Amino acid sequence: MAAAAPPHENSGRIQEGSTMAKSSYAVTIAGGGSTFTPGIALMLLKEHDRFPVDKVVFYDNDAERQEIVAKACEIYFKENAPELDFSYTTDPEEAFTGIDFVLAHIRVGKYAMRELDEKIPLKYGCVGQETCGAGGIAYGMRSIGGVIEILDYMEKYSPDAWMLNYSNPAAIVAEACRVLRPDSKIINICDMPIDLMDKMAVMCGLKDHRDLQYSYYGLNHYGWFTKIFDKQGNDLMPQIKKHMAKNGYLDGISHEEGQEQHIDESWIHTFGKAKDVYAIDPETIPNTYLKYYTYPDYVVETSNPNYTRANEVMDGREKRVFGACRKVIESGTAEGAGFEADAHATYIVDLACALAENTGERFLLIVPNDGAVSNFDETAMVEVPCIVGSNGYEKICQGKVPQWQKGMLEQQVSVEKLVVQAWVEGSYQKLWQALTLSATIPSAKVAKQILDDLIEVNKDYWPELK
Ligand code: NAD
Ligand code: G6P
Ligand code: MN
Repeated sequence: MAAAAPPHENSGRIQEGSTMAKSSYAVTIAGGGSTFTPGIALMLLKEHDRFPVDKVVFYDNDAERQEIVAKACEIYFKENAPELDFSYTTDPEEAFTGIDFVLAHIRVGKYAMRELDEKIPLKYGCVGQETCGAGGIAYGMRSIGGVIEILDYMEKYSPDAWMLNYSNPAAIVAEACRVLRPDSKIINICDMPIDLMDKMAVMCGLKDHRDLQYSYYGLNHYGWFTKIFDKQGNDLMPQIKKHMAKNGYLDGISHEEGQEQHIDESWIHTFGKAKDVYAIDPETIPNTYLKYYTYPDYVVETSNPNYTRANEVMDGREKRVFGACRKVIESGTAEGAGFEADAHATYIVDLACALAENTGERFLLIVPNDGAVSNFDETAMVEVPCIVGSNGYEKICQGKVPQWQKGMLEQQVSVEKLVVQAWVEGSYQKLWQALTLSATIPSAKVAKQILDDLIEVNKDYWPELK
């Protein structure tokens, strides 16, 4: 791999005349009823000095779910930021008029559908996961319409705004936006590599990802770190490799208060399993999600088909967040309710700041390849480092990927492209091909069985397939 090269000329989405620096910003959170909304809303307040937000709107298409989160946040804001203009709505015009940023984290079909995404493939002995394999494909078929709808609302009511999207499955959503809305101001981003860099920093005795400089290539939830330096330019890879070979990401987990993320048992398992994923290519440091494609048999053997991650989240995070919200509403005060800013979500403010204030900071974004990975499909939506400023982003070329990564990437990008084509054309055939091609599914026969079950339960969400 070549060293991180200077930004590839004409490779970014340069927005002419879009310099925005303002004294304050208006933000809409789409997916107002998300379990992540309180943490992100509080984080916006906490970061007010560097990213001054004076207006926050929550938008969701489920009024009842959103109201619980919104009413609790309203009480919190009244107590802690009375000057903030806060509102919540299910009306798109109200939600998207006069805003600068949309932070989007919607889950079309909510946890009830996530549970089916995970359990249906498992019934056929295949990986059941939120964003990978058959589950990710099913979720993608639901998300495309939802995210495009929000993007269209934003462009209609606030044409200069930026949408920072982390609704999943981000790889498929990003490909759909490339195909269907190529000129839109949307940036797709994921927090997994940031979390992994936090862990690598801890392994090296540093504080967090801000202390590291990195090179990375891949697709979303499907990539590899190739270089890690500290801010003085020292190569940290030898140390990180030693840790990965022994313990995966396990001994990088921070126990500092406010730094806990992904601490449920299933995640701990995943961080440990990264050791075996690393062993396949000890030259690079893998994204945790690669375990679903490289060890699908192990994943299935260690899954409980009756109690998946969706159940763990519904019994854990959802109960916790909604319980805290209800407590705030009942008691009329947010004091002592355990409401906390989500420290891990500060990357969203970093990105908004880069766009608003032209910071020129480096981010790992999901963007059209266009030569950033030179021996790979130029129309692929790749995850690579980018420099972000008020005129958009410029990619940093990652050079050629080795044969192992190239083979894996070709297979997975084809899965993602076929899903988007299936959605656009309403094609059963293409969706069957997508499932058959996934490394998590053993044959066209099993792919068809899973597909037919998924069609049945996704009638209200998927386009009709012919
Ligand atoms: P959640 O179910 O708690 O919240 C999602 C909300 O979206 C719900 O309130 C739902 O009513 C709403 N919604 C669904 N369809 C909508 C539509 N068409 N328009 C408006 N609102 C709609 O889910 P969650 O667990 O909090 O996760 C939210 C999203 O964030 C998911 O897509 C998840 O995968 C994603 N996520 C991404 C990252 C990342 O790194 N990219 C990290 C964490 C979560
Ligand atoms: C990571 C990924 C996200 C994903 C989340 C799942 O942070 O980057 O894209 O949504 O994990 O977490 P959950 O707790 O819902 O399983
Ligand atoms: Mn992610």
